Amino acid sequence: MSEGDSNPPQPAVPEAHEVDTYHVPKAFFSKGTGKAHLKDLDHYHELYKHSIDDPHAFWAKLARELLTFERDFQTVHSGSLTNGDNAWFVEGRLNASYNCVDRHAFKNPNKAAIIYEADEPSEGRTITYGELLREVCRVAYVLQQMGVKKGDTVAIYLPMIPEAIIAFLAITRIGAIHSVVFAGFSSDSLKDRVIDARSKVVITADEGKRGGKLIGTKKIVDEALKKCPDVKHCLVYRRTGTEVPWTEGRDFWWHEEVEKWPNYIAPESMSSEDPLFLLYTSGSTGKPKGVMHTTAGYLVGAAATGKYVFDIHDDDVFFCGGDVGWITGHTYVVYAPLLLGVASVVFEGTPAYPNFSRYWEVIDKHNVSQFYVAPTALRLLKRAGDEHIKSEMNNLRVLGSVGEPIAAEVWKWYHEKVGKEEAHIVDTYWQTETGSHVITPLAGITSTKPGSASLPFFGIEPAIIDPVSGEELKGNDVEGVLAFKQPWPSMARTVWGAHKRYMDTYLNVYKGFYFTGDGAGRDHEGYYWIRGRVDDGVNVSGHRLSTAEIEAALIESPLVAEAAVVGVHDDLTGQAVNAFVALKDPSQDNDQTKKDLILQVRKSIGPFAAPKAVFVIPDLPKTRSGKIMRRILRKILSGEEESLGDTSTLSDPAVVDKIIERVHAVR
Ligand code: WT7
Repeated sequence: MSEGDSNPPQPAVPEAHEVDTYHVPKAFFSKGTGKAHLKDLDHYHELYKHSIDDPHAFWAKLARELLTFERDFQTVHSGSLTNGDNAWFVEGRLNASYNCVDRHAFKNPNKAAIIYEADEPSEGRTITYGELLREVCRVAYVLQQMGVKKGDTVAIYLPMIPEAIIAFLAITRIGAIHSVVFAGFSSDSLKDRVIDARSKVVITADEGKRGGKLIGTKKIVDEALKKCPDVKHCLVYRRTGTEVPWTEGRDFWWHEEVEKWPNYIAPESMSSEDPLFLLYTSGSTGKPKGVMHTTAGYLVGAAATGKYVFDIHDDDVFFCGGDVGWITGHTYVVYAPLLLGVASVVFEGTPAYPNFSRYWEVIDKHNVSQFYVAPTALRLLKRAGDEHIKSEMNNLRVLGSVGEPIAAEVWKWYHEKVGKEEAHIVDTYWQTETGSHVITPLAGITSTKPGSASLPFFGIEPAIIDPVSGEELKGNDVEGVLAFKQPWPSMARTVWGAHKRYMDTYLNVYKGFYFTGDGAGRDHEGYYWIRGRVDDGVNVSGHRLSTAEIEAALIESPLVAEAAVVGVHDDLTGQAVNAFVALKDPSQDNDQTKKDLILQVRKSIGPFAAPKAVFVIPDLPKTRSGKIMRRILRKILSGEEESLGDTSTLSDPAVVDKIIERVHAVR
């Protein structure tokens, strides 16, 4: 961590008397099958110990139970965290789409696989496993005809519609690698990701529809593809039927192409360690990292956490409100539910459209048993008022939270008002890089404390490290940064085209450990409390953004000399982006400039990264070596001007007062 510029000091581990412990609600056992997969917490402890003492035996058994390998593996794991060469289920061969679709389609062709809840409540449809197999195969053919081969990358830029899931699976069926770009990213961001991944084909839609609004998806793709000469084809799903610009020879309609091909194509045989997908995430520099996951290990993590964390059983209906453009959607809209052969709700809309009852109505309508969402949505709905919760939600037995810390009062609201004290809350901590949950309660098993992600999942051996000494802090009641001591199957294997960056970010920070980048405490009972990023990350509505990336976007403006971005607490979005800029020409300091700069970020990254406030200041607070002291900016914004600490090391200490004045003038 860099000198003097870490995130603000984190609260100490709460005292035992300060937090309530909640046990699994009795009503949990009167729903579903009436039984969780494990017997009780002792059973978890026993299995957990086995997973740490003998990970090979533990994971070999689970992998063979949860996945269908066409060729078995002999080596369960090879490599190490030190060397960054981890491989799992080494000799195994399998196909992801076969595991997600075929095996269920053969057994249960009429079972619902995807429940599509469209933006307009009346427009959805259900797709069975049998239908899903046919759809996936046809699109796989189309891609093959477009020249996509095993090992090629295909970009997906689609809204939350069933075709997004079909696209994922069609790509994996022919052994290609999917690289999904969240459809809220701008054309510039899409272009960067397409180029970095060397995607050959882009799959998109004419338009998106969300919260009653139309989004010009294909237009954004067209803009991006102007600068992507290597993309030869674009497959376009017709979602709204609007007229869209068309590049003959490059663009093809999904509905026309799939008509041409048979219902079945054999799945490509893949090695366990063949790449399954890339997913870009923010890094500490301006350039996003293409996090790479491989086939068997990732799938085992998805299926194992789906089974034990959400307690998924055969007849469950699983509803994850996350977008497939982020890891939450990858693992818990697509892979976990489909690997386990249950129905996954694909929700195109927003929690506020047509009104604030939407989620609860969807849960009732489809008899949802597990619901999973980010606290940011819960804060919005809590604020909207309890009168919107009119639904019975009788089947609901698990309520998940993900992406950011959930405040105790939001946790309790979720428990009392949404779950009616009948559902078990699981606050799941994980990351794009971990592939699946790493610290989390198990539904039906783990007693919980609001605000704590509780205990490690199988195979995860957490360590709290003192960031100053780099030493592991053993025992309970400790606070530091969070790392893991052992490799686990669904961990990311590399950063696409940048293995050194992977090593430096995750494995070289504390030798022999995987470093999460989060601060965390372990309380007197061994429960973990995640404190948030200790790097320059900002978490806005559960989306991890990097300050460096937003700063890079601001500096693209010819008006800006320098920029510093910090995250500040926000009641609704968790954190909000605030930007400080020094202009090249101070006379340009006006409202239009601020608007232009916000627009610049929207255009360069996407609307969700736009600063909530822009402060024009004469100069940034910098050390004599030129390092920007974001800590000072953060403190000024949170009204802690009295405790700025030593500012004498700044190259120009007088700048601090000018910044304070500026912030006050605007507020
Ligand atoms: C970062 C990862 C993993 C899915 C969505 C975000 C924060 C994630 C929790 C939680 C507190 C959490 C961490 C983490 N985070 N889950 N339950 N409690 N913080 O994925 O974009 O890769 O971000 O989100 O800071 O490092 P991501």
